[in-house]
Amino acid sequence: FDAVSIIRAKRDGRELSGTEIDWIVQAFTAGVVPDEQMAALAMAIYFRGMTRSETGRWTRAMIESGGTMDFSDLPMATVDKHSTGGVGDKITLPLVPLVAACGLAVPQLSGRGLGHAGGTLDKLEAIAGWRADLTAAEMVEILANPKIGAVICAAGANLAPADKKLYALRDVTGSVESIPLIASSIMSKKIAEGTGALVLDVKVGSGAYMKDLGDARELARTMVELGNDAGMRTTAFITEMGTPLGLTAGNALEVRESVEVLAGGGPADVVELTLLLAREMLSAAGIDDVDPAQKLADGSAMDRWRAMIDAQGGDPDADLPVARHTEVVTADRDGVLTRLDAMGVGIAAWKLGAGRERQGDAVQAGAGVQMHAKPGDVVRAGQKLLTLHTDTPERFDAARRSLDGSWSIGSESDTVSRPLLIERIV
Ligand code: URA
Repeated sequence: FDAVSIIRAKRDGRELSGTEIDWIVQAFTAGVVPDEQMAALAMAIYFRGMTRSETGRWTRAMIESGGTMDFSDLPMATVDKHSTGGVGDKITLPLVPLVAACGLAVPQLSGRGLGHAGGTLDKLEAIAGWRADLTAAEMVEILANPKIGAVICAAGANLAPADKKLYALRDVTGSVESIPLIASSIMSKKIAEGTGALVLDVKVGSGAYMKDLGDARELARTMVELGNDAGMRTTAFITEMGTPLGLTAGNALEVRESVEVLAGGGPADVVELTLLLAREMLSAAGIDDVDPAQKLADGSAMDRWRAMIDAQGGDPDADLPVARHTEVVTADRDGVLTRLDAMGVGIAAWKLGAGRERQGDAVQAGAGVQMHAKPGDVVRAGQKLLTLHTDTPERFDAARRSLDGSWSIGSESDTVSRPLLIERIV
């Protein structure tokens, strides 16, 4: 095989053979096929797409580029969730300990934020002492502990290394938003992780990769097929990401809100989505006699959270970092907040320091955006709409600029209220 013929074939719209795919993924991982050739191929795939069988083979090749994990010796069933990413999407934080409190083991491998979308690991690192890097043996030990059963950590270097390299390359060459590439990237990691079942939360709207429902549906279907074909029971929800989830976007800010949910409070949309995903995860594991709402109410999810944070070196009682500077954005007139755009808020949180420009940049734990109203709420002129938090006040201007045009105040009849759950794909 040679890379140029494979690139040309995809450029011209030809289906790649299984052996071509195996060869190029393996040769890229080994450094034999250089970045510029893989970048050209990723762009050709972006434009030409991949068939179901190509996507399946591509996913398998990425899994086989590294090792796999195996939790089949655990006494309880394993189930995981994955969100395609959004603004204020802190659901993993309350969800993982909640599902463990319901009797399942949750081996959640998470990522870091890039650009406007936050990352679960960055959020948890706002907790003093908390460690994202665990060995496989540490993961198993925490999962097997009947008082914990939940872990959220970084994927080890040997888990789908082809994806790590390819994702970094796509990120800097404008080829992230390709359905077969996103689906194979996400699913290669989840299949290699070895979880028994998987629930996907595919986001659609301004704050998501997929801006339109047709694309979100195709991404969800592709991932559900890849998972089920690999013997992992997989279902997906398509959920709304036009407006931020909850009332916070930022690292420590989102941890605080998640703890509120675990304490039985928190914003209604965060609670609703947490419970929706928890029920789906339980049902995927065949458990239908446990009510997750009860586990939030009786404190057992909170106990799991505390044990989980502690097992990873964190202090669940530590004060969370607070940004040194704040500024408020106020309503300019009376009316109803008809729109609060997820992308605008996500970019503002990022510019304030909650996210990173380049992989490897440090993030500010305290930075982000706190929302005081959500679409549908009545607001008065001069009332606080948003509080911006940062350690570096020179960032306020850029954040304010990204919020320009991101919200509207009108009359009640202008409010477009969309349900959180749009579709379930099985
Ligand atoms: N998340 C991933 O892990 N991979 C992608 O390609 C996009 C989002």
